[in-house]
Amino acid sequence: MNTMKRTTTCGALRAADLGKTVILNGWVHRKRDHGGISFINLRDRYGISQIVVDEDASPELAHSSGELRNEYCVAVEGTVRLRPDSMINPGMPTGEIEVLARNMVILSRCETLPFQIEEESGAKEELRLSYRYLDLRSMGMQRRIKLRNDVAFAVREWMIGRGFYEIETPTFIRSTPEGARDYLVPSRLYPGKFYALPQSPQLYKQLLMVGGFDKYFQIARCYRDEDARGDRQPEFTQIDIEMSFVDRDDILSMTEGLFAYVFKKTLNQELNVPFRRLSYEDALEVYGTDKPDLRFDMPLRDFAPFVADSSFQAFKDALSLGEEEKAAAASRGISHSGGGVKALVVPGKADYSRKQIEELEAQAKIYKARGLAWMKVAEKEGAPVFEGGISKFFGDKVHEITSGLGARPGDLILFVADASRKTANIALGAVRGKLGRDLGLCDPKRFEFVWIIDFPLFEFNGEENRWEAAHHLFSWPQEKYHATMEQDPGSVKGDLYDLVLNGYELASGSIRIHDPELQKRVFRIAGFDSDEAERKFGFLTGAFKYGAPPHGGIAPGLDRLVMLMAGESSIKEVIAFPKNSFAVSPMDDSPGEVEQKQLDDLHLSVLYPEDMG
Ligand code: AMO
Repeated sequence: MNTMKRTTTCGALRAADLGKTVILNGWVHRKRDHGGISFINLRDRYGISQIVVDEDASPELAHSSGELRNEYCVAVEGTVRLRPDSMINPGMPTGEIEVLARNMVILSRCETLPFQIEEESGAKEELRLSYRYLDLRSMGMQRRIKLRNDVAFAVREWMIGRGFYEIETPTFIRSTPEGARDYLVPSRLYPGKFYALPQSPQLYKQLLMVGGFDKYFQIARCYRDEDARGDRQPEFTQIDIEMSFVDRDDILSMTEGLFAYVFKKTLNQELNVPFRRLSYEDALEVYGTDKPDLRFDMPLRDFAPFVADSSFQAFKDALSLGEEEKAAAASRGISHSGGGVKALVVPGKADYSRKQIEELEAQAKIYKARGLAWMKVAEKEGAPVFEGGISKFFGDKVHEITSGLGARPGDLILFVADASRKTANIALGAVRGKLGRDLGLCDPKRFEFVWIIDFPLFEFNGEENRWEAAHHLFSWPQEKYHATMEQDPGSVKGDLYDLVLNGYELASGSIRIHDPELQKRVFRIAGFDSDEAERKFGFLTGAFKYGAPPHGGIAPGLDRLVMLMAGESSIKEVIAFPKNSFAVSPMDDSPGEVEQKQLDDLHLSVLYPEDMG
């Protein structure tokens, strides 16, 4: 077959190539016919070049050209020439030249397309995923997949340059509790036994530390059977990192160095390092979330000091009920935040309509707020006054409140009160997040990193009435809590850290426990008795008996990182073959049924929900 192998790519030719004979291979992006002359935009991964087939074309060439439709795959031989001045396209890197075709081979034809291959196709997601191989041809997907490649390469370059080894860990492992549900792989050789796909290489990277590889990283595939969201996929990729003989600040500054390098190398963007740090408690108090978007400020303020001698009963009730609940929880040895009334000043938005405020209230209610109270700051005779909403209860304290909250005439003030201060914070934090998006305060080209540190080690699971690990079971309780850990698990802070970028949790990590006794105590608090802990984690605690080094690590999500760098809000945009929101791949229709014989080999039979009644 005459494939006419390319001598250059569709993005390479410039005015300096004038007169050269070249062969291009690519896809027909567009074709225009103008009275006997055809202009074909030929596209490949590198760009687009304009091909001209004019009146002097041979009959064979004219015939081939006449046949062309969008997305035909062709080889064209021709001569580079300058475009006439009026046809120069400054928006195109190859816009000064065109290739006058002499010869053309159609390599492959294309049927009617399910959607046009545009910069961004605009097609429905399901259709894009069904024909992902076509969607991948779009310049947008091509650019994002290139960025992903560049980021992964820069990561490897930086890590290996600093003495890290890239080491693979198994993807068939023992099922160990790690937060989400496992994907299981049945064993053919051992009926009734299963491998699990790793939710992360966590335990193996710790064992590599015991094995003496003191600087490890891996661009690792991870699998979690959890509900999909914009920033979650059932299978995803982590830049998994672990180091020995380090403390928390070593890991934080290593990560800052890595990110500074990756952003400079791939986006030519300087990052401000070191990144800001916020304690978990402060993040919740000031931004109502442990994933604050710091591209805009709008802090939550404590309104409780203005409530006690006001006549607004709803706020007073929230605080007094909070006190009662706190006392009841304390008697069961559980910490409770007490009640809270939080305020959010929205600058210049006193003109918000009732409908707009109701939309904000709906957002607060998703996060368990009972409602969203509001009032507006106006101006009368040169002095601020409150208007609308709950203003009549606070009209006598305009001066104290406006100066306490930093509110000015023209501002809108929003409030959430709840018997749980945490709920008030989280609900108002969600309103802050929505306002940031609605008011266009989230510039996708800005990158605001922040470390969240000093997380609680344990969280109380009210439904199951037990303590569980807030992150995972292997994180180091800060020294000052070691003696009293069992008495008040809720107060224990761990050496845990998250890296947050523009409101997304980008990475998470901790200093680990390397002392088998301390590890057993943490297992016990989280409800694993020694037999169960031995069964589930024996291989780790066993290893710790043999001189385990102090160690710690972190795992940035590669998909989320590239998504944010590309200015996208779904990780599907930076994954070549993602699953849809129902964990299905519409292209290859997985998950799919298998033959009875395969089930028999695996000693499995399927109980369908309808059979179970
Ligand atoms: P964690 O579970 O917080 O920590 O995950 C670390 C990072 O991985 C990314 N991530 C995801 N990305 C896409 N889809 C998902 N379903 C998904 N789940 C997590 C996020 C997250 O910040 N072993 C620990 C890390 C450690 O302690 O070193 C771990 O896996 O960016």
